[in-house]
Amino acid sequence: LDNGLLRTPPMGWMAWERFRCDIDCNNDPENCISEKLFRDMADRLSEDGWRELGYEYVMIDDCWMSMQRGSDGRLQPDPTRFPGGIANLAKYIHNRGLKLGIYADMGSATCMGYPGTTLDKVEIDAKTFASWGVDYLKFDGCNSNVIEQLIGYPLMSMALNATGRPIAYSCSWPAYVGGLPPKVNYYLLRDICNVWRNFDDIQDSWDSMQSIINWFSTHQDDLQPAAGPGGWNDPDMLIIGNFGLSVEQARTQMALWAIMAAPLIMSNDLRSLSNDARAILQNRAAIAINQDPRGIQGRRLLQVTVSSGTITDQFKPEKSRIEVYWRPLSHSANALVFLSRRQDMPYLYHSSLAKLNFTAGSYEAYDVFSGKTTTGLTATTEFKVSINPSGVVMWYVYPAKQSPKDTGRYPYMR
Ligand code: DGJ
Repeated sequence: LDNGLLRTPPMGWMAWERFRCDIDCNNDPENCISEKLFRDMADRLSEDGWRELGYEYVMIDDCWMSMQRGSDGRLQPDPTRFPGGIANLAKYIHNRGLKLGIYADMGSATCMGYPGTTLDKVEIDAKTFASWGVDYLKFDGCNSNVIEQLIGYPLMSMALNATGRPIAYSCSWPAYVGGLPPKVNYYLLRDICNVWRNFDDIQDSWDSMQSIINWFSTHQDDLQPAAGPGGWNDPDMLIIGNFGLSVEQARTQMALWAIMAAPLIMSNDLRSLSNDARAILQNRAAIAINQDPRGIQGRRLLQVTVSSGTITDQFKPEKSRIEVYWRPLSHSANALVFLSRRQDMPYLYHSSLAKLNFTAGSYEAYDVFSGKTTTGLTATTEFKVSINPSGVVMWYVYPAKQSPKDTGRYPYMR
C-alpha cells in the first residue's frame, strides 16, 4: 500500500501468541489483556534498548473490547481492563517514542466473540481508531464470508486513508481464503494493505514454526514477488523467548524471518526474557538484514541457475538435510542461511559461493550469530560450515572491496 508506511517490515510487540484472550485480571493481573500489560511492554521497549533497534509498535490483539458497542455505535474498550481508554494508552505509548497497534475483525464478531466490524461499521471504526491516535490496524477475518471480505478489506483501506491519519494496515484476508492464487490476488493486496497474514497462526512450538517455514518456501514463487517496500508477507509473530523453542531453534526463527522480509513482531514477555532470547532478538546484523531497504524477500535455494535473467529453482533434494536460503541486499551484499533439518549432530556442510549462484569475485562473510568473519572467499573457494541440529548458520556476504573498514557501512558488525 503506497501510503508511505512500512517501507521496511514492521517491528514491535503483539499480545496474541503469548497472552491470548486472558481476561482474568482478578486472578492473573500481570498477564491479562489490560492497559497495564501494554504499558508494561511499552516501558520495556523504551527502556531495554528495543526501540533504538527498531521495535516500535505495541500491538493490542483480540479481547480488548467491551461486549457491546457504545450508544454512539462506536467500539469501546472493556471498562474494567482499560479504565483509562485507548486514547490515553496511545498517549502513554507515544510519549515513549512508540506507536500503538489495535485489532478489529472484518465480520460479525471477532474470533473470540467480541463486536465485529460489519460493512456498515467500517467507516465509523476507522474514524474511532484515528481519533484515538492509533498507528496500525490488524484487521482479522473471522465470521465473514468471501464476498464480505472482498468488499470489506478494500473499504477499510479507503476508510483509514480518509481519516488523514497515517495508519499502517495489516490484512488477515489471505489467511482466510487459503493464501494462494487464484483465490488470493496479491496485486490487489499490495494495493490496499501494508502487510498481510498468508497462513496459519503460529503456536509455541518448533513443529508449528517448521510448518510455516515449509509452507512459505513451497509457495515462494507465488509469495516472494508480492513483497516489497510498503507491502509484506506475514508468517506471523516471533515466539522467541517463550517455551517451545530451543536456543538453536530461536536463532532459526530470527534468521528465517530476516530472510523472508517478515514482520519482526515479538509475542513474548519482555519483563522476563532470558539473556539468550534477548541477544537473538536484538542481533543487529539479523535486524539489518530483515530491514534491508531494497526490500526483496529471500528464497529457499536448493539449486539455482540464472538463465536469461530469470532465476529458476531446480528442485534437487539435499541428501544432507541442509537447506540453503538466500536474500539479495543493498550494496551488492547477500544473506545466506544454512538450516539443518537433522536430528543427530552438528553437520559439516561443504559448499562454495559459486554453487550458491554467486558470480566470480572476492567476498567476505560475516557470521551473524558468532560474529566471526571469513575473508578471502572467491566464488569457487570450498568452504565448510558446521550447523547444529534444527539450527542455522547465517552469513552476511559482501564483496571484499566493500569491507566495513573501507566504507563503515556495516555498523552492526562486531
Ligand atoms: C486469528 C489471528 O490469526 C490471530 O493472530 C489472532 O489475532 C486471533 N485470531 C485472535 O482471535
